[in-house]
Amino acid sequence: MNEVRILDKKFRELISEQAIRKRIDEIALQINRDFTGSEVIFVGILNGAFMFAADLFRKTELNARITFVKLASYQGTSSTGSIKELIGWNEDMVNKKVIVVEDIVDTGATLERIVNELVIRNVAEIKIATMLLKPTAYKLDIPVNYVGFEIPNNFVVGYGLDYNGYGRNLPSIYTLVK
Ligand code: IMP
Repeated sequence: MNEVRILDKKFRELISEQAIRKRIDEIALQINRDFTGSEVIFVGILNGAFMFAADLFRKTELNARITFVKLASYQGTSSTGSIKELIGWNEDMVNKKVIVVEDIVDTGATLERIVNELVIRNVAEIKIATMLLKPTAYKLDIPVNYVGFEIPNNFVVGYGLDYNGYGRNLPSIYTLVK
């Protein structure tokens, strides 16, 4: 499947399922080495990271737990609509080593929000793992410790990533054909 159509757009394969699997094995090996003897909590960011988080977690050989959080629009009286709150947080994570698992880091705005939230909640250590990074869009100083693939600044779908809700179940990663 070199090309797929999702809704009104056409996408071309960018990273194969096989290449994704191989890279996850490498990252898991690195994480296993870096966290030998430590208790770790993987924190997957919903929705996009569910697939990467599951595949990466399966390959770890650590005393590890996994949980998922989401940045959801604030349900209070805010009229801006732009305030987001972290939902799914579990107090068990206080003073623990955390690996945040993202699907993609684009501008890094989401990552910054998540990291700020975790700092406020007093975790002991924060490392970031992302399947994809768009280096030309990412301008923050927060180090991204484990990167699957660096990609150009184009829209992608598949392997958890969506276009208007569709395409998450594609096993490879596809880029928009303009
Ligand atoms: P950021 O906050 O700009 O770094 O964007 C991060 C979030 O935007 C990701 O977790 C995705 O949900 C979404 N996103 C960014 N780029 C893409 C893309 O190319 N395809 C699909 N979703 C994307």
